[in-house]
Amino acid sequence: MPRSTMADADPTGVWLHETGPDGEPGSVALRAIAVDDVDQITAACQDAALQRYIPVPRPYHRADAEDYVARSIALWPTGRKHVFSVVPAARPDLLLGVVSLTVAGRCGNAAYWLTPEARGRGAASAALRMVSGWAFEHRDLAVILLEIHATNEASKRVAAAAGFHHSGDIEVATDDGPRQALLYVRLASDQPLLPRPH
Ligand SMILES: CC(C)(COP(=O)(O)OP(=O)(O)OC[C@H]1O[C@@H](n2cnc3c(N)ncnc32)[C@H](O)[C@@H]1OP(=O)(O)O)[C@@H](O)C(=O)NCCC(=O)NCCS
Repeated sequence: MPRSTMADADPTGVWLHETGPDGEPGSVALRAIAVDDVDQITAACQDAALQRYIPVPRPYHRADAEDYVARSIALWPTGRKHVFSVVPAARPDLLLGVVSLTVAGRCGNAAYWLTPEARGRGAASAALRMVSGWAFEHRDLAVILLEIHATNEASKRVAAAAGFHHSGDIEVATDDGPRQALLYVRLASDQPLLPRPH
């Protein structure tokens, strides 16, 4: 598996990728978020769709990305939150997006976004499948939850492709006040997903 200097310097050593039915590794991988991602995160967080569905500061400045990355790196060893960068397996320095997992007990809350250029190729579904499989196996989680805005059709499809089921509707607190969200759930005891072709 090709890896960059940055990925080699990653103290977590985490490198996740899927294996297809042919045994070949998938084209998308996950590594821990890194300081070198700051500029790419800053650029991605200017996107209107991301700002609509992800609770990021608006306007979004480079200092926001610096703060987010620093907090994410500090939180990883506590086990309370794991923030992964979604990258091409062959280009670990190129950010396709971010998938995060916040952990309390045996329950995790996942969230994800892709850069506009990386959308439409199944990268988010692959990232969500990978982080879920890792969390069930290595963090012993019993359940992972997603809160999805009712109008976010792409995210609903991503969730379904990663083995999540719409469980019900909830009200969530946001900086802009309470809003309705769809609760998607995947249990550790759910049937394992079949390998997917890439
Ligand atoms: C949500 C997000 C990660 C999905 O990215 P993606 O992997 O590129 O998703 P795609 O564009 O491939 O769409 C996934 C599926 O939804 C479908 N889809 C996309 N937009 C759709 C729409 N408006 N209506 C219906 N279906 C739609 C696609 O056709 C695709 O279908 P498939 O699974 O049959 O191939 C990306 O749009 C994003 O980063 N959005 C902003 C942040 C965000 O919303 N995060 C999720 C918060 S819960």
